[in-house]
Amino acid sequence: MSDKKPSTRLYPTRIDIPAEARSQIIAILNQTLAASLDLKTQVKQAHWNVKGSDFYQLHELFDEIATELEEFIDLVAERVTALAGYALGTARLAAANSILPEYPLDIDAGLDHVAALADRFAPYAKHIREAIDKTNDLGDADTADLYTEVSRTIDKRLWFLEAHLQASTTQGGNGTTATAKTGEKAAVR
Ligand SMILES: [Fe+2]
Repeated sequence: MSDKKPSTRLYPTRIDIPAEARSQIIAILNQTLAASLDLKTQVKQAHWNVKGSDFYQLHELFDEIATELEEFIDLVAERVTALAGYALGTARLAAANSILPEYPLDIDAGLDHVAALADRFAPYAKHIREAIDKTNDLGDADTADLYTEVSRTIDKRLWFLEAHLQASTTQGGNGTTATAKTGEKAAVR
């Protein structure tokens, strides 16, 4: 992979975490950076294109989530540089390295966007939670703490998204769409 060289670049530093551990932590952080940038642009895509009677509240909710992700992006990238690594944060690098699938372009209804985002927040949340343990095992409690902070918020946002879908499946007969009942599949249609 052509980005291998810069991703493993380490600058001289007085930090006391061994270089070998820092290299591995930086690789995890850069993977998170790619996924976070990808997810943020996907949430913005939903923010701009959502339609339907819930337009305004979803438009606002998606923007709030995107703003939160923007803050995480900066935290993650600057943790890479604090560890004397090289942050890989361009749009092209994010697209190439993200663990998330591309956002569906054939949806517009509110609940379809909610389901598509929930389908992406779930693997993102899993990645963040795994990173807590990995960075802890590598002896970097600070990065693990950063991941813990992000993890709590991402779980909360997944709840916010899924609450729309969960309400739809239990209320029934109130005009909700079938799409809401098959939330996990919405993204691959
Ligand atoms: Fe906006």
